[in-house]
Amino acid sequence: MKKIIIGNWKLNLDHLEAIQLFQKLNYSLNTDIDEKISIVVAPSHTSLRSIQTIIDADKLNIFLSSQDVSMFNDGAYTGEVSSNQLDKLNISFCIVGHSERRQHFNETDEIINVKVNNLINKEITPIICFGESNDQRTDGNYMDFLINQIENSTKGLRKDKVDEIIFAYEPIWAIGTGQNASLQDIVEVISKVKEFISKKSFFNEEKIKFIYGGSVSPDNSNEILNSKIIDGALVGGASLDVDKFIKIIESVDL
Ligand code: PGA
Repeated sequence: MKKIIIGNWKLNLDHLEAIQLFQKLNYSLNTDIDEKISIVVAPSHTSLRSIQTIIDADKLNIFLSSQDVSMFNDGAYTGEVSSNQLDKLNISFCIVGHSERRQHFNETDEIINVKVNNLINKEITPIICFGESNDQRTDGNYMDFLINQIENSTKGLRKDKVDEIIFAYEPIWAIGTGQNASLQDIVEVISKVKEFISKKSFFNEEKIKFIYGGSVSPDNSNEILNSKIIDGALVGGASLDVDKFIKIIESVDL
């Protein structure tokens, strides 16, 4: 399966800085690497339109993701951005259920489930994040917790509607800490989640990807990205540094 590498820029960069970073990334990519690996960036909402214009004008093979979407489609919901609005901007992907949103904005699996369904209806690929806390990992009950997160966030999905879905295993203790999960930890979780998902009626082996996020860097990307069961990476901090992000992309054996 084609690997996917997603840069999550979080709440960094105004739209001018985002354009600069994006242009630098574009110029630094080896020709045609973006045909072999799907490269995605997720800037803030205020930068999506500016970057989309560059992608369109130069017919680039780099894709855009939103970092979030509203659970509502339209109406009196001040400050929200809908899946319809993202769709009109040709946004291909949207991160949902990132642990930072669960932690700081009280997002529940139920809210995430509504968002996932709204995105699927607009043919935007959801990047569904799931992951356990440090306490849950040390308690040993993390697998039940993770399967529950996946079960709740994928309710109501129908095979005839689902095209692509990405599940991103992002253990909370590994995000922004410099302490990545070991390959063994990642493979264990992804294998079990994959087994669970493969029994779901919406499962399509070619269209469902399982990626890892949490302190991915040029130091560990080789091992992570070349594991057969891991289809890619969601990269936070290192995606803001073009040199590091390129090194991560280039660590995929083609
Ligand atoms: P990190 O972030 O790479 O900085 O750990 C990953 C993420 O939050 O998606």
